[in-house]
Amino acid sequence: MLQEPTSIGEAFRKSFKILMLFHHLVISLLASLRLMGVLGGSVQNPFLLLPPDTHMHQQAVVNIFLDCYQAYKQFAFPHDDLTPVTKSFFDGRNGWGATVVDAMTTLAIMGQEELFIEAVDFSSKIDFNVSHTSDTVSVFETTIRYLAGLLSAYELSGQKFPALIEKAKEVANKMAFAWVPGTSPIPFMNIDFNTSIPILENSVISQAGTLSLEWFTLTKYSGNDTYRKLAEDTVRHIAQLPAPLPGLAAQGLNPSTGKSVGAFVTWGSGSDSYFEYLIKYARLTNTDDNLFADTWATAVDSSLKRLARTSTVGNHLYLADQQDDGTLRHIGSHLECFHAGNWMFGGRLLDNQTIVDTGLELNEACWNTYASTMTGIGPEIFGFFSSDGNFTGATPTAEDLAFYEKHGFFLYPQAEYYYLRPEVLESNFYAWRVTGNRTYLDRAASAINSINKFLKAPVAFAGIWNVNEADSGFIDDTESFWYAEVLKYLYLTFDDPSHINLDEWVFNTECHPFKAPTAKAVYGSGQVIDQSSFGPFKPESGPLPAVSPAVKLPARPT
Ligand SMILES: *[C@@H]1O[C@H](CO)[C@@H](O)[C@H](O)[C@H]1NC(C)=O
Ligand SMILES: *[C@@H]1O[C@H](CO)[C@@H](O)[C@H](O)[C@H]1NC(C)=O
Ligand SMILES: *[C@@H]1O[C@H](CO)[C@@H](O)[C@H](O)[C@H]1NC(C)=O
Ligand SMILES: *[C@@H]1O[C@H](CO)[C@@H](O)[C@H](O)[C@H]1NC(C)=O
Ligand SMILES: *[C@@H]1O[C@H](CO)[C@@H](O)[C@H](O)[C@H]1NC(C)=O
Ligand SMILES: *[C@@H]1O[C@H](CO)[C@@H](O)[C@H](O)[C@H]1NC(C)=O
Repeated sequence: MLQEPTSIGEAFRKSFKILMLFHHLVISLLASLRLMGVLGGSVQNPFLLLPPDTHMHQQAVVNIFLDCYQAYKQFAFPHDDLTPVTKSFFDGRNGWGATVVDAMTTLAIMGQEELFIEAVDFSSKIDFNVSHTSDTVSVFETTIRYLAGLLSAYELSGQKFPALIEKAKEVANKMAFAWVPGTSPIPFMNIDFNTSIPILENSVISQAGTLSLEWFTLTKYSGNDTYRKLAEDTVRHIAQLPAPLPGLAAQGLNPSTGKSVGAFVTWGSGSDSYFEYLIKYARLTNTDDNLFADTWATAVDSSLKRLARTSTVGNHLYLADQQDDGTLRHIGSHLECFHAGNWMFGGRLLDNQTIVDTGLELNEACWNTYASTMTGIGPEIFGFFSSDGNFTGATPTAEDLAFYEKHGFFLYPQAEYYYLRPEVLESNFYAWRVTGNRTYLDRAASAINSINKFLKAPVAFAGIWNVNEADSGFIDDTESFWYAEVLKYLYLTFDDPSHINLDEWVFNTECHPFKAPTAKAVYGSGQVIDQSSFGPFKPESGPLPAVSPAVKLPARPT
């Protein structure tokens, strides 16, 4: 009797080995079919096979999530964030309960029905007409977290809770005042909800250009086409502005005039999700207008020609920033690492293997920032040196240079922290679903280990001040994207691949999935856009708003 489990285990392992052998053959066959163009633009590898230890990793993610969510409920509900060191709360998102609304879709996806219903009930009663704090309201943050959380939860529930759509309309109707008639199609970034008057200041493309998926979806369920039109016209306007590099709009925008401000180009903070949404919007809407997919393809093409560099050590691929004066700044960031998954996704939709492979290469460089540190987690910003330039904006110390010689990047001064961001694990999730290569599962498992080992705070889990030190201290704020993004991407990495299949759902930039129609055979015209008709690039000068990833970071204790 005692022998039996062992022999069954043995038999299972043997048959699994045979299955894996067969699986490798199928994957290679699939790769050839894709090269021959037979599989069109399907994003996910249709023959994904999960190994037997998957459930254990998935359960570890659920445990982390529930631990954090219970701590939030105990110490911070109904406020925005848990502060896991002081066991209290922080209202950084107008006090509407950001963690509940942002975590709602993760609860649905994890099958936590009771907590999900509780969250829906809470969300259906939020009063979005007034900010619960003295802050103005960010149109971008409110759209990607609250509006998207409500809409995606509505879809994931099988459209069971119309109150979610009512709330979505309520908050969008207030935000719609960000678009001021008689100015430009660019919305202002922030609004005073007391008066419904926007704050007059410059904006950036990541804030103005990352509303389209959500506002399109709101139109789908409300029947009010104004929402779609507002957000879509903004993207059309940005995409047709004269640009410093083809397809790569300058970061700054003046909503009063509709013109670019400065000439800064980056795939990182302040620009990132504008590029992300170009291709996702084409996919979610299946529009016949090629502007969105073609602008994305043009941005990728320009990036390969002008921004792509490899590090002199380790040959890591990265996309440098181009500054106002045209010089390249050789840095990358955690936020920017969404680009790897986005290029895999878009490369599949365009049926362009070069773009998919480049996405996989970018993913290697991003993962290297995790694999190289003593915690196994990557920093906020990292510097590189290439053979034709090494300006990073920082003066690397002797230790930085020694670290670089070993790992091919260095931790950027003052940005050695990890703030519970998702992008590296997000791209790792895409890499798994697109290729079926089990290395990406191993990496996700290693990240879960690191989280359990180094991020366990007095309550729940927290960010840390230095990813290359075992005890640098915890950051006393658990942002809602920890619940919405990090833990959802990790969970889905170990989930049945037919659940939230990348050919059926499009993720917003906060990891809230929207249901997509059946894909078209191919996206875009196959041509890059000739921008000469947009006129010469003559930006305004002026201050850009602070979009530093760390604006909301609590002060580091000394
Ligand atoms: C918010 O304002 C709208 C429009 O004035 C109103 O219809 C709605 O009932 C208000 N919501 C709440 C929760 O008071
Ligand atoms: C909105 O009004 C409330 C209550 O009068 C006030 O506390 C808050 O500071 C106001 N918000 C802004 C952005 O002025
Ligand atoms: C549609 O939405 C816009 C923007 O919030 C609003 O001004 C308009 O009144 C809405 N139309 C209807 C018919 O509800
Ligand atoms: C794929 O994209 C790359 C980068 O833009 C481009 O150079 C190449 O021509 C494209 N390949 C095809 C087959 O369109
Ligand atoms: C950076 O480039 C300069 C000029 O080519 C060179 O002198 C210097 O050694 C380089 N520094 C590093 C860290 O590669
Ligand atoms: C799987 O991915 C890893 C990391 O990118 C790579 O080294 C390895 O060659 C890949 N394996 C296959 C079979 O493609």
